Amino acid sequence: MLRTHKCGELTTNHAGQAVTVCGWVDSYRDHGNLLFIDLRDRYGLIQVVFDPSENAEAHKLAQSLRSEDVIQATGKLKLRDPGLINPKIKSGEIEIRATDLAVLNKSKQPPFLPTSDNVPNEELRLKHRYLDLRRPALQSALIMRHKLCMAVREYFDKQDFIEVETPMLGKSTPEGARDYLVPSRVHPGEFYALPQSPQLYKQLLMVGGMDRYFQIARCFRDEDLRADRQPEFTQIDVEMSFVGQEDILSTIDGLVAHMVKNVRGVDYPLPLPRMTHAEAMERYGNDKPDIRFGMELTDIGSIVKDCGFGVFKSTLENGGRIRGINAKQAADKYSRKTIDELTAFVGEYGAKGLAFFRVKEGKLDSPIAKFFSDEHQAAIIQKMGGENGDLLFFVADQPKVTSAALAALRVRLGKELKLYDPMEVKVLWVLDFPLYGWNADENRWEAEHHPFCNPNKDDLHYFETDPGKIRAQSYDLVCNGYECASGSVRVHDPAVQQKIFDFIGLKMEDAEEKFGFLLNALRYGAPPHAGIALGLDRWVMLFLANDNIRDVIAFPKTQKASDLMTEAPSPVDAKQLRELHIKTDVPAELK
Ligand code: AMO
Ligand code: AMP
Repeated sequence: MLRTHKCGELTTNHAGQAVTVCGWVDSYRDHGNLLFIDLRDRYGLIQVVFDPSENAEAHKLAQSLRSEDVIQATGKLKLRDPGLINPKIKSGEIEIRATDLAVLNKSKQPPFLPTSDNVPNEELRLKHRYLDLRRPALQSALIMRHKLCMAVREYFDKQDFIEVETPMLGKSTPEGARDYLVPSRVHPGEFYALPQSPQLYKQLLMVGGMDRYFQIARCFRDEDLRADRQPEFTQIDVEMSFVGQEDILSTIDGLVAHMVKNVRGVDYPLPLPRMTHAEAMERYGNDKPDIRFGMELTDIGSIVKDCGFGVFKSTLENGGRIRGINAKQAADKYSRKTIDELTAFVGEYGAKGLAFFRVKEGKLDSPIAKFFSDEHQAAIIQKMGGENGDLLFFVADQPKVTSAALAALRVRLGKELKLYDPMEVKVLWVLDFPLYGWNADENRWEAEHHPFCNPNKDDLHYFETDPGKIRAQSYDLVCNGYECASGSVRVHDPAVQQKIFDFIGLKMEDAEEKFGFLLNALRYGAPPHAGIALGLDRWVMLFLANDNIRDVIAFPKTQKASDLMTEAPSPVDAKQLRELHIKTDVPAELK
């Protein structure tokens, strides 16, 4: 060992001891006679003092040190003089009086200082990720991630789950995103797909009698990236046999409470609240509501159907809805100009306008208030729970647009008006998703989650009459407005599975080619089974109240799916391509 102690573990209890520590030079201050170094490792900072009268050579060497040099310092741990105590840092009462110094490695002038409060642009950070990882914020994110994984493993292990690794080189799974493909050398012209999730394998594990499976599994999806998505990410993947929906929900309730307890040290109240998909859409306009604050969507269609405002009237006549939200006591917080910005913002979600009213002396105040009689105004204020000082917003449009636009506006206003504590974590189940959605481009029904999801038994008659009404036995776990887990009760009857493939227009031979192995396995005594997968990266983000997924992954990719440090993806040798029987043909404009 090059050290007797870690920098951050030293306390006043070690006073008087001889210690050797190693780490990075965080900062240095040369006071002529005395030289002070703040030395940093993963565990914290310690001040090291070099005094020429103690060891002139070490003092001289210390004068050559610069930020991020790696050193080993030996000396006696002392209590600082009362006047030199720094209450701002944990080790502010102690310091090491150095007797020896070894420079283990010099550092080039770094492009940014990893401990400076001035965080540089993300491109530079990603290019030098090893420096960025020295930042305490990233270190604590990775430590939290590790703790979360340990808690997950402990929880499942205690309940007889076993962790099974499933293949990375596999066959494409129908998860809805594009696959990452890996060419086969020994099977010319053929490809493996990296797993979008272990979905099919975990179902096969149930047929294989494993009973209870989990895996902290890497998944790959070639999809358009956003702040909460990465091309490779990690799922806490779970599957259970001889269970139904309630068993999965209660197992995951327990897991959430266990994770919160481990990370935050508090008891999360169980059972987690539940809401149907239909209710979430009605009250919040989307299927992943942030329930840390209210501002729910309210329909005023019945009130304004005979008002004088043409936009509202014609929208209702065309089968649309008039829905709105109430930004409490925000009347003075939004100027005309910022409301114009909000109008442009909801426009991105398809809204053709944003009507707004300030509630003033019991009446509506707005350029369009004149179109509403006193009775209309009073009824609107009452329905919206309005009080003087409130700001009401309305969107008149087709139901889908009112939902999308107001859901986005609600989230934006909630954040701007600071309607919740950003550290708070609020989880809920969203249940009874529709099983199928209509794909207007391809003129066919398609599975909303994936085609292995069991329909709700009470809705089977809708197959013939109104397939959009069939509820799935599926469930999402939503936290602070993010979809943090998703799962379903699976089809275990090969005849039902076949019927579903038929229904979504998957031809018998295509189904056999794609999932023949699954259909086959179902014919050999598949137990009833159900499962779920939690997005690990998203949970870490939530616990840290960080809305950038890249900050919780050691080596993340950019929005364009590249690794700026290693410069992946990159061209490969002609020889490698020949061996794989691959010829590239990239048009000049794409190079
Ligand atoms: P699903 O596709 O909904 O379900 O994924 C489950 C959870 O994984 C997380 N997630 C992501 N996280 C980061 N980056 C991404 N690109 C990304 N995509 C998904 C989300 C999501 O809720 N096999 C099914 C699960 C099942 O039915 O058991 C599945 O993969 O938090
Ligand atoms: P206009 O009649 O286009 O001048 O719009 C008058 C007001 O009504 C403006 O504040 C618009 O933003 C608002 N408005 C227009 N269309 C809609 C709509 N579809 N939903 C809500 N408000 C609208």
